[in-house]
Amino acid sequence: MTMKQIEEILKPSQVGKVVKTRGWVYRIRKHKDKVFVVLRDSTDIIQAVVKKGTKAFKDAEKLTIESSLELSGKVRKDKRAPTGYELDAIQIKPVHIAETFPIAKDLSEEFLLDVRHLWLRSRKMTAIMKVRSKVFEAIHEFFRKEKYYEFQAPIIIPGGAEDGPTLFQIEYYKRKAFLAQTWQLYAEAEITSLEKIYTITAAFRAEKSKTTRHLCEYWTAEVETAWQKLDECIDLAEGLVAHICQKVAKEESKSLDILGRDPKDLLKIKAPFPRITYSQALKKLEKSGMKVKWGKDLRTLEEKKIASFYDKPIFVTHYPKEAMAFYKPRAPKDPRTALCFDLIAPEIGIEMIGGSERDMDIKSLKKSLKEKGEKVSDYEFYLDTRRYGAVPHSGFGLGIARLLQWICKLDTIRDAIPFPRTPRRCTP
Ligand code: 4AD
Ligand code: MG
Repeated sequence: MTMKQIEEILKPSQVGKVVKTRGWVYRIRKHKDKVFVVLRDSTDIIQAVVKKGTKAFKDAEKLTIESSLELSGKVRKDKRAPTGYELDAIQIKPVHIAETFPIAKDLSEEFLLDVRHLWLRSRKMTAIMKVRSKVFEAIHEFFRKEKYYEFQAPIIIPGGAEDGPTLFQIEYYKRKAFLAQTWQLYAEAEITSLEKIYTITAAFRAEKSKTTRHLCEYWTAEVETAWQKLDECIDLAEGLVAHICQKVAKEESKSLDILGRDPKDLLKIKAPFPRITYSQALKKLEKSGMKVKWGKDLRTLEEKKIASFYDKPIFVTHYPKEAMAFYKPRAPKDPRTALCFDLIAPEIGIEMIGGSERDMDIKSLKKSLKEKGEKVSDYEFYLDTRRYGAVPHSGFGLGIARLLQWICKLDTIRDAIPFPRTPRRCTP
């Protein structure tokens, strides 16, 4: 008898057949003459009934929550069973009898983070990790189809790009080095060779405070494209997010159900997404009673409000130049603003993507670096990209955990990554 995964057993064609499967005890109820074992594997759960008098009964009595076992039984349809089918157990082979599992009901988030290595087995975390895996698959699929090369930048770097104070410093032999916040500066060097490149990578930021949308180590999909202008870059971001939503809705609908997300919500996420400028956003905010001084970056509160006006992800473009990273160029039509965009997630209203055109002009780059208090000499390798055949180009970074927070309806970004790293936690 070949071993079957639970998903393969939950089918009308299996009714009446004797099958063999394996997994872990998800729930167990022991009665005098019967033991009910709910078995889980990576694919699903199924209830087995073990009757007194069968060979399996003695072994079933030994089982505890999370014990691992192999089980054979006859498949029966049963409306009352948790997944619609039940197994009449014939034989049970315990593989490992688990000690008392420390996770019961109603535990605090902090405790569940302490035992994250065990909590990953929960149905909720299992569903999230399946969706996460699908998102990674969708990102690769999208960029490969668009003929992008996958390209890797270093993680250990000599200096910053986005925001100096949030760099993690490491000791590199006798020198200082840092963990990368973004691949961007290296990607800008590579596009004169491969023209269209993307990556999925870990990125690091020493965020100062604990929030529900910041991690200190997070995964990001980044892309950089030669000859590309802002509008085309936004089109690419729109295409990517739409593709991810369509694919997850179609191929992970069962996981979405477990998470309380209707797959139909994601099927509606198709191009075009609304596009508004920062100045237009301020006007909309003012109309609903939120006054933001022109020049200030948008805060979570304001992003949430903007999200509430729409039912799709929203592009906000042309933020004030002064509030932006040094490499974002001034917009020729309104030099107070930069050629850049953020994509705000619907419902939860957090920034999922940040992107821009890149300043081609070496003089204005040097000026911006100085204004930001950076040492221009630290950026010589980057400035070389503006000395030898510079071309217009642009790119963006998608925060994968933030996208998952929205798609999976999670209260906190910490549940969107297997082992979260936050200012207060780098264990387990
Ligand atoms: O907007 P950011 O800072 O942009 C960049 O780093 C660019 N260099 C990307 C590029 O153009 N190649 O970060 C990009 C995205 C954000 O929109 C957000 O989704 C995510 O990365 N992100 C974080 N996610 C989780 N925790 C954090 N601490 C994050 N910081 C940024
Ligand atoms: Mg940003």
